[in-house]
Amino acid sequence: MGKIRNFVIIAHIDAGKSTLADRMLEITGTVEKRKMKEQILDIHPLERERGITIKLQPVRMEYKGYTFNLIDTPGHVDFSYEVSRSLAAVEGAVLLVDATKGVQAQTLSNLHAATEQKLDIIPVINKIDLNNARVEEVEDQIVDLIGVDKSEILKISAKEGENIDQVLDTVIEKIRPPQEGSNELRALVFDSMYDSYKGVVAFVRVFGGSVETNDKLIFMASKKRTETKEVGHFKPQLVKTEKLRDGEIGYIATGLKEVVLARVGDTIAHVDSSAEPLSGYREPKPVVFASFFPRNADDYNLLKDALDKMKLSDAALTFEPQSSEGLGRGFRCGFLGMLHVEIVSEKLKRDFTLDLIISTPSVEYKINLNRGDPILIRSAGALPDPNSIQSIEEPVVATEVLAPNEYLGALMNLMAETRSVYQSTEYVGKDTVLLKYTMPLAEMVEDFYDRLKSVSSGYASFNYEPAGYNTDDLVKLDILIAGDLVEPFSKIVHRSLAYKEGKRMVEKLKEIVPSQQFAVALQAAVGSKIVARKDLKARRKDVTGYLYGGDVTRKKKLLEKQKKGKKKLKATGKVNLPQKVFLEMLRR
Ligand code: GTP
Repeated sequence: MGKIRNFVIIAHIDAGKSTLADRMLEITGTVEKRKMKEQILDIHPLERERGITIKLQPVRMEYKGYTFNLIDTPGHVDFSYEVSRSLAAVEGAVLLVDATKGVQAQTLSNLHAATEQKLDIIPVINKIDLNNARVEEVEDQIVDLIGVDKSEILKISAKEGENIDQVLDTVIEKIRPPQEGSNELRALVFDSMYDSYKGVVAFVRVFGGSVETNDKLIFMASKKRTETKEVGHFKPQLVKTEKLRDGEIGYIATGLKEVVLARVGDTIAHVDSSAEPLSGYREPKPVVFASFFPRNADDYNLLKDALDKMKLSDAALTFEPQSSEGLGRGFRCGFLGMLHVEIVSEKLKRDFTLDLIISTPSVEYKINLNRGDPILIRSAGALPDPNSIQSIEEPVVATEVLAPNEYLGALMNLMAETRSVYQSTEYVGKDTVLLKYTMPLAEMVEDFYDRLKSVSSGYASFNYEPAGYNTDDLVKLDILIAGDLVEPFSKIVHRSLAYKEGKRMVEKLKEIVPSQQFAVALQAAVGSKIVARKDLKARRKDVTGYLYGGDVTRKKKLLEKQKKGKKKLKATGKVNLPQKVFLEMLRR
């Protein structure tokens, strides 16, 4: 036990966590040089394409006679639940700060969470190779923040591999080894995945006892019993071992097919155990909701199965059955943000080859009716008859924006555009400003993150927490394609923004809806009033192409026939939107 070190790397997005992990894997010889590639712990193709970490990823390394269990964590605010679960499985954290950006919002919130878990913290400044690195300034910020001595802050370049050995040595020195538990097995499930051969594979941290193949186990919360098929470590791929011992991080393959019974946060013990379960995790609260409907009604069970399996490796995802008159049976899913919606939708398409209709994401509105109790709705489609509505309340969040002083003006303008209400200004160090606002959640989840990045050249960062509801002048914006209401695209917007948003949506649809054999009107409407319109031209198929020479009458006849056909098509005209269109509409 004295030779084990369990730790996470935490940071704001893009500070270089995965790159630092790469260097550690190289120095410790965990991954063979010829198999090494950049950000190797970003395993899912989507992570690699987008250059972001979505999932926590554990890996075991050997260094100077010590065993390191490292968990690489995501930096985007939508995936903070992955971070909080990782923190409960380790004793220490490498806190990485980008030398060019300094302390950012997720640096603060992750540090706060790590301190709450009483983790040993190693502050590290990364990217010192860059010309615009502000090492001394950032050192002052860190000293301010955690009260360490300057000499304790490591300065590295993960990209160039500078001073990585210092980080590894400091992990040995400063992060305490796991505390010995009792002899009875208690394994905290901090993540899981589904494997068609191994069944549910639980990612665990052992807090006492040990586990090996054929042991009879129980998930203490769900009471599900099973027999261990295999145990092992992450290298980062699964590598089988004989035993998983007290203090270690590894996996238990359970052989279970019922994925819903193997919950993250549960404790695995031996069936005859008298141990108390570990404290587990607080359930995350979804903030955005979107509905998924299979285009082919027969795929409903496939979709359910896919969501169950995804839930195993994405514990923040929630879903409940929903049915719609026009769209049939589907699921209303809850997410931690728009990037989360996008990632889950893409994965359903790619990993499960599902053809889906995806609704515009929505927050949860409170509808006060003229008669009876208020109702909560999570999609514009569920809005009752406008005549029965007294008022609509929307959720608001308390937002903290952290940025260098020079962006103060630009940020205040942005906040004004997002219907936010100013609260206060504070300073962190002398060059960084902390702005506090109350903001409609709908504005925040929409594209606030991207806009914040763009007005601050990437330097501003933010954090938020729920702050109740607020009444505003909200209306339902509908999209009509060829005169038909396309329910999944309906959304609730502020009346003053309906025109702008309607215009944006029809313009975008014009770019992405495939042209049809007839002209198609793309309209945005509030009630019966059309607020924006674009027309999609007909695709003209060359029906005369095979005719050589000058038989004009023949040509005319064919074109006439085509025209008639189009008229007929238009009369019955239904536009079948491919899933690509729904996915594109999620993207800003
Ligand atoms: P998320 O997990 O998505 O939050 O990102 P991350 O913290 O894992 O960052 P990642 O390792 O993906 O690095 C982000 C970018 O910074 C990449 O383009 C890296 O090549 C670059 N980068 C990382 N470390 C350094 C460094 O020391 N110097 C320089 N110049 N670039 C670096």
